[in-house]
Amino acid sequence: MKYKLANRRYIGNKTALLPEIFSLLEQENIHYTTVADLFAGTGVVSERFLQEGSDVIINDILCANQIFYYAWLSNLPYNESVVMQFLNYYNSDCFPVYENYFSNTFSGTYFHHKNALKIGAIREHLENHKQELRPREFYILLASLLYTTDRVANTVGHFESFLRKKPPYKEFFLKPLQIQPLNGQSRIYHQDANQLIKDIKTDLMYIDPPYNARQYVNFYHILENLAEWKCPKVFGKTLKMDRANRMSEYSKSHALSFFSSLISQAQTKTILVSYSNTYDAKSSSSNNKISEEDMERILRSKGEVIKKEVPYRFFNAGKTALKHHKEYLYLCKVFVNNM
Ligand SMILES: C[S@@+](CC[C@H](N)C(=O)[O-])C[C@H]1O[C@@H](n2cnc3c(N)ncnc32)[C@H](O)[C@@H]1O
Repeated sequence: MKYKLANRRYIGNKTALLPEIFSLLEQENIHYTTVADLFAGTGVVSERFLQEGSDVIINDILCANQIFYYAWLSNLPYNESVVMQFLNYYNSDCFPVYENYFSNTFSGTYFHHKNALKIGAIREHLENHKQELRPREFYILLASLLYTTDRVANTVGHFESFLRKKPPYKEFFLKPLQIQPLNGQSRIYHQDANQLIKDIKTDLMYIDPPYNARQYVNFYHILENLAEWKCPKVFGKTLKMDRANRMSEYSKSHALSFFSSLISQAQTKTILVSYSNTYDAKSSSSNNKISEEDMERILRSKGEVIKKEVPYRFFNAGKTALKHHKEYLYLCKVFVNNM
């Protein structure tokens, strides 16, 4: 068995929405050969565009997400047998483990001590042997480590907090990645979407920003920590590092003005936005930052808008119960003088 890109547990991922996205583009006869996925998250939407043969700009502010894009979606060369050599060594009993930053920081909370020892020791070994690997080989190995780390964690699927029960030991096995041939070229960015938008021009822009006050970096701080491997100090009960530089403006009170500025600067023929209505959520942090009315008003100022409502299984991060959850797709055919 191998890891597929879509095997990841990620809040707001659009794997289940892919058929709706692509059927809407087809129904509306949208032509494109270049695409920008500005809030790419897992990268599953980019992956589909690349498989179709489009050239894709893939962007997200989280550092760990870049690792996955370079591993699965880049056009960089790699040698599979080199990757397998490292994976086999890490999975074998010959691989030595010892106390390390990861085990000292996260044992007994997010991970069983034995799992934490192995994760930290592999990450350290990878860092020390980076020079022997081509960049994509390093990213593939790190991606496998990050996916496996998520699987053995004592969590509900994200790292906002750990479960109260003592972390059980979980079988730890690094799987290789299932890397599909891509028919398009990718360009990978790690920028604030509102900065990147100034420098790019594509036929289609897919925009899937965070919907509420829940910061993605809080959900995935351990993967960020492991991806960067700067061994930062962590704080508080939930052991998070300083995250000030990766907080999203889209999860703050001024989200609307950031969205409005993003749309007005987009140099494109078509914009496709997905957005979830979570306004009726019981917890205020789960309520939407941008209303349906504002979303429509902003997009209508840019072009002709088609709105499609999709009933969609809501990824329930906490206790929020939403009976009438809807996912919306807004397709905006940009007026010629606004492109
Ligand atoms: C709803 S998720 C996208 C999910 C994605 N479409 C998928 O299918 O996995 C929103 C993403 O936006 C990213 N993000 C938040 N603020 C951003 C910003 N200012 N610029 C770029 N990415 C941002 C988050 O890290 C998160 O991955």
